[in-house]
Amino acid sequence: MIRRVLVVGAGQMGAGIAQVAAEAGRDVVLVDVSEARLQGGRAQIDASLARLTKKGTLSQADAQAALARITTSVELAAGQGAELAIEAIVEEREAKRRLLAELDRLMAAPAILASNTSTLPITDLAAATGRPDRVVGMHFMNPPPVMALIEVVAGLTTSEETVRAVSDEAAAYGKTPVRVRDMAGFVSNRVLMPMLNEAVYCLMEGIADAEGIDAVMRLGMNHPLGPLALADLIGLDTCLAILEILQRELGDPKYRPCPLWRSYVQAGYLGRKSGRGFYTYAQVPPEKRARS
Ligand SMILES: NC(=O)c1ccc[n+]([C@@H]2O[C@H](COP(=O)([O-])OP(=O)(O)OC[C@H]3O[C@@H](n4cnc5c(N)ncnc54)[C@H](O)[C@@H]3O)[C@@H](O)[C@H]2O)c1
Repeated sequence: MIRRVLVVGAGQMGAGIAQVAAEAGRDVVLVDVSEARLQGGRAQIDASLARLTKKGTLSQADAQAALARITTSVELAAGQGAELAIEAIVEEREAKRRLLAELDRLMAAPAILASNTSTLPITDLAAATGRPDRVVGMHFMNPPPVMALIEVVAGLTTSEETVRAVSDEAAAYGKTPVRVRDMAGFVSNRVLMPMLNEAVYCLMEGIADAEGIDAVMRLGMNHPLGPLALADLIGLDTCLAILEILQRELGDPKYRPCPLWRSYVQAGYLGRKSGRGFYTYAQVPPEKRARS
């Protein structure tokens, strides 16, 4: 029975995951490296809960109760008593392996360690711990409070009991768990990222401007968000990291990231989270503009 959840990383995914778990009645400890990051996470949760109450999907009282169940800390040890830890830190193999090894030392023996990695093989992350049967992928979609899917990734060493426990937990969050095999990118990013990459090549080659490319995919393919607007939502640094991991892990040059990703990331244009990516976010978001 999972009552307390530790979420590590208070960025756009971690904050959203903390909110979803708290809405489902879990006591949540949200950890990040600095108070400033935690403050950013809390502001994101406040804004998201306010949107849900305004829409009428959540009552004021339930939003307040969810908020009261979330505590924040810069110390991992604050989450020691949790039955489930979900890491949502940067998409870097070494950083995640280091964190999982630390969680393995800190958390009680039966606790499950889940990773929200977009691409990294779970078997490799699990091998950094002494409990590889209790390490699993719980891949939330962005933004977690809105999106209905959680990919549940079973590594080679993940036990059936662990897969069942996190699938039940996903269902308790009101999400649909879909079990996938542990192969870089799973299903979601294996299919999505080559499309986003191709859209960036179209931009680099001047086939259309950003708004044109997105309009083709929204109006022609019925996608709710164009690929470049979606890349801005995901984070261009995260997209670049995912493509590099796909290329390295699967060894196929078809995943080679378009060089433009790197230039944007080098310039600090990371998408919505930095205020600028393929679009600038002081402006009206592209999917809300009149072009049709
Ligand atoms: N952005 C998406 O659409 C999306 C979707 C699904 C999964 N993911 C995955 O979720 C993870 C997080 O992505 P994000 O978009 O939230 O990134 P982000 O950059 O918004 O947030 C990452 C947070 O992790 C914190 N952090 C880094 N190292 C840490 C450590 N050792 N201990 C504690 N906190 C640490 C950073 O300070 C930052 O606040 C990545 O693995 C990413 O691939 C992202």
